[in-house]
Parts: sequence; C-alpha cells; structure tokens
Amino acid sequence: TIRIAVMKSGVLFRYKDFLPLTSSTPLFSLGEGDTPLVRSPQLEQEIGCKELYFKLEGCNPTGSFKDRGMVMAIAEAMEVGSRSVMCASTGNTSASAAAYAAYCGLDCIILVPKGNIALGKLAQAIIYGANIVAIDGNFDQALSIVRVLTDKHPVALVNSLNPYRLHGQKTAAFEIIDVLGEAPDYLFIPVGNAGNISAYWMGFVEYHKAGKTKIRPKMMGFQAEGAAPIVRGHPIEKPQTIASAIRIGNPASWQKAVAARDESGGIIDMVSDDEIMAALQLMATKAGIFGEPASAASLAGLIKLARKGTDFSAKRVVCVVTGTGLKDTETVLKGDKSFLELPPDLAAVEKALGWG
Ligand code: F0G
Repeated sequence: TIRIAVMKSGVLFRYKDFLPLTSSTPLFSLGEGDTPLVRSPQLEQEIGCKELYFKLEGCNPTGSFKDRGMVMAIAEAMEVGSRSVMCASTGNTSASAAAYAAYCGLDCIILVPKGNIALGKLAQAIIYGANIVAIDGNFDQALSIVRVLTDKHPVALVNSLNPYRLHGQKTAAFEIIDVLGEAPDYLFIPVGNAGNISAYWMGFVEYHKAGKTKIRPKMMGFQAEGAAPIVRGHPIEKPQTIASAIRIGNPASWQKAVAARDESGGIIDMVSDDEIMAALQLMATKAGIFGEPASAASLAGLIKLARKGTDFSAKRVVCVVTGTGLKDTETVLKGDKSFLELPPDLAAVEKALGWG
C-alpha cells in the first residue's frame, strides 16, 4: 500500500473547516495554495484603479490553480478507495491530476485534444507517468467521452464536474480575503469550462456567510472571442483561440457561471486573441508577471472595460493569473521576437548596447 504523509499545510489542512472532509480523508499536500497576491502600482496607474492585485496561481506545484481542486478530488478518491482517475483536459487539469495521482500511487488516464495543448503541460503529464490519449478532436469531445467512460468503468472522474474539485478551488477566494481583510470590489477571471469562476463565487459566498468579509466582489469572467459560448448564448462547435487552455465550446459549469455572474452583479464578456497577447505582454513588462495566454484574459478584460469607460478609480481589483507562462513558451516565442546575437567579443557587445 502507498503511504501518504499527513501535512499541517496545504489547502486541505488550512481550510479544513470549510471543506467536505471526513475523519478518514487523508490531509496530504504537494504544497498547493497560499499563493502570492502581488500589487502592481505601475498598472494601477496605467489602468486607473485604486488598487490592482494579481493572484499568482502559477505558483502552485504544477503551475496552475488546478492543484487546489485536485488535492481535494484525489483525497476523496483515496478515501473511497479508487485505484485510478481520469479526466479530459486542455492541459493543466491533466498535469495536476497526473502529479497528485502519482503521489498517491493511483493510475491516471487523460484525454487531451491532439495538437492543442501547450508543450509544457504535455511534458508534465508524460513525466508524471500518466496514461495519455490524444484525440483528434477538441476538449468538449474529449470530456463527453470521459463522462461516459467514468460512468461505465471503475475509474474516478476528476474533471470539475466532480464537486470536490470546486470545493478545493474555492480556497483561492478565501486566501484573497484572508490577505486583504475584505473581498475586492471586482474579481477578473478567465472562463473556459467555467468551473473556476463558479468555485471562486462559492468561496466568496461562504466566507461572507461566515462573517469574514462584508462585501462580495462582482465576478468578471472573460472568454476568448473564438471560444465564447456563454457570451454568445450557444455552444461553439469549433472553438478557436491562441489561449489553448480556454479553447472550450460547451462549458460543463455553464449554469453555475451564469449564476455567479448574476448573483454578484458581474459580467461574462470576451476578449480577442490580440487583446490577450497584449495583456500578457503588459503584465510581464509592467508587473514582472509571466502568465500563460489564458491567464492574461483577466487583465485583458479589465483593460477592455477601463477603455470603454468603466471607472475603477475608487475600486480594489483582483486579476486571477491562473497558470504560469512557462507552460506555454512556444506561443510567446512565435512571431518576430528578435534579440541581438553577437560573437563573444567585449567591444562588439559594448558597441551594440550603445556604449561604444
Ligand atoms: N486558465 C487556465 C490556465 C486554465 O487551464 C483553465 C482551464 C482556465 C483558465 C479556465 O478555467 O475551465 O475552470 O473555467 N483549464 C482546463 C484544463 C479546462 O483542462 O486544464 P475553467
């Protein structure tokens, strides 16, 4: 049998009073949660917010927010004696499932859309030892196959349709309130399969009920223009976007996300690939934060609204940076990103730098 260390850290231990745990849930951790909330004075000024923070979910053990939900889902799977887990993924869920399954000695089967997953994420799934199936189709098709197979065979579903995933992910909302002492006025967040926006809202609502915050934020979800089923009001059969993580045409948590939007007085809108890449670059050059393309949809959305005239000058805003940019370097290195190439010659380098 596999031995699992019980940890007095990580989201299960830290937020045990708010999670669906039992006395036999293994409270283990790979170091997920407690991610930085970084303030950016430069971007506050540029965009015109009173306070602007980035929640750096790329600092989780596998480089995305998925680890919060996965530790909860895998702990539950262990508790009920599952031997294997399965998910469909645009990359991050599969990387996280593969890592947590590896730690717990579970088999992990993942279905990914062939050619549409960032290489860093594929490398993660490979090295963690997952059973990988690349299908010649998109995420939505992969997920519908996984739903049937996990129903039919003794394998646990660890997509966010598994309610334990959302419980784990809601802990990010708790952390924001624990750090700020209050919820922000606005939370900007990318929307793909729509689980995360639903989980954050659940977290804000629960902490509000528990008296930990007086206000609840407006939930500001952003899809990519070519993959914006919620904005357009119908599923998109062939979703397209450079932000492969949110290339999703029929989100599983569609209704929950709409409820989060409406109950919070927020919006779900969309941003173009150009706006996403401009925001990714701005976040890197002005805040020193490298997010993956999907992650930049948060800031892209904020910029879009500020340009259209929404006044944030008295507002406290949090943008969720859902995954690290190191997962998807190929997208950034595409195009004409040129730099100097010189011989190892002092004078030549000095001259090229304008000091010669
Ligand atoms: N940002 C990143 C980096 C993601 O990987 C995802 C989803 C999202 C945002 C959107 O979150 O689906 O809860 O609305 N990635 C999933 C995956 C679909 O398979 O890794 P969501």
